[in-house]
Amino acid sequence: MRSRLQIDNLLDGKVASEADGEPGADVVCGLTQIPKTLPPKYFYDDRGSELFEQICELPEYYPTRTEAAILRRYADDIAHLTGPADLVELGSGSSTKTRRLLDAYSQLHNSSNGHLAYLPIDVSGGILEQSAYALLDDYPTLSVRGLVGTYERALDRLPPTSFPTRVILFLGSTIGNLTPNECDEFLDRVSRALNPGEYFLLGVDLRKPKSILEAAYNDSQNITAQFNLNMLSHLNSRFDGNFNLNQFQHCAFFNEKESRIEMHLCSQKAQAAVLKNLDLTVEFAAEETILTEISRKFDLDGMQADLKNKGLSPVRSWTDENHWFGVVLSQKQ
Ligand code: AVJ
Repeated sequence: MRSRLQIDNLLDGKVASEADGEPGADVVCGLTQIPKTLPPKYFYDDRGSELFEQICELPEYYPTRTEAAILRRYADDIAHLTGPADLVELGSGSSTKTRRLLDAYSQLHNSSNGHLAYLPIDVSGGILEQSAYALLDDYPTLSVRGLVGTYERALDRLPPTSFPTRVILFLGSTIGNLTPNECDEFLDRVSRALNPGEYFLLGVDLRKPKSILEAAYNDSQNITAQFNLNMLSHLNSRFDGNFNLNQFQHCAFFNEKESRIEMHLCSQKAQAAVLKNLDLTVEFAAEETILTEISRKFDLDGMQADLKNKGLSPVRSWTDENHWFGVVLSQKQ
């Protein structure tokens, strides 16, 4: 089994959240600007990752199950369109949704006597290794080459393919966390990482009535609220802070103009918080908020035009019957 597994760390011995500069520099920067912001990556400590898994199962949170249904239904079509290929996945996490694609591609590979290679990329080495072992068990001919690191680094250093072609997967509408500028830069990187003829498979959450969107981020069990507030407890333990979680409230709404869900933490009174390890005192006015996440909602035509601008020509796209979620296959020119 070991011979089918290789995991490389691109973080140069640092932990994920410190890979790109001085630890906590992004926290200081976000909390000293107006309006205050924090990077969404601070959601994902162990507790946060667990809460996110719970979010994916919530009745109101449609994206995970809708995308999974699309992949279940169309994985074979996708595999036939690209032909045998190495699969590279950005932000692979537990690789649950990827299994349908692995099924479809291993069938294709077996019938051409080739071996499927899967290259998961994730900042969390623990999750990466755990899911790699599970996959090796379940897919006897699969080889896994994991990369622990940020997308940026991994995309700039993809190992050569064992097959004539390669598909980069970016599922779950994680792309929605990026601002338009960041998105632009990200797509440039993806395009640069691919050789002509190779593929990019992208999952995007689509625009839909506000009431459905807002319910997905304001669930009746308050799991999303806990997920949002957990960012403060993560910062407390990480940087020796004293954020009082009882004095902040989860707030999520759809910003029509920007076509994005915004998640905020709203200060319930005028207060200050200290992050000792960062030498930082942050003052809050009553009702002042911290923007912790944007989750942009796209339309398929717009996304395809953006991809095309980056030299990624649309091949085909798939949606569910409600048109709530889209999966887009594009090919590098
Ligand atoms: C993982 C970024 C796609 O934006 O819907 C879920 C994260 N935040 N509920 C999203 C999230 C609140 C999720 N992404």
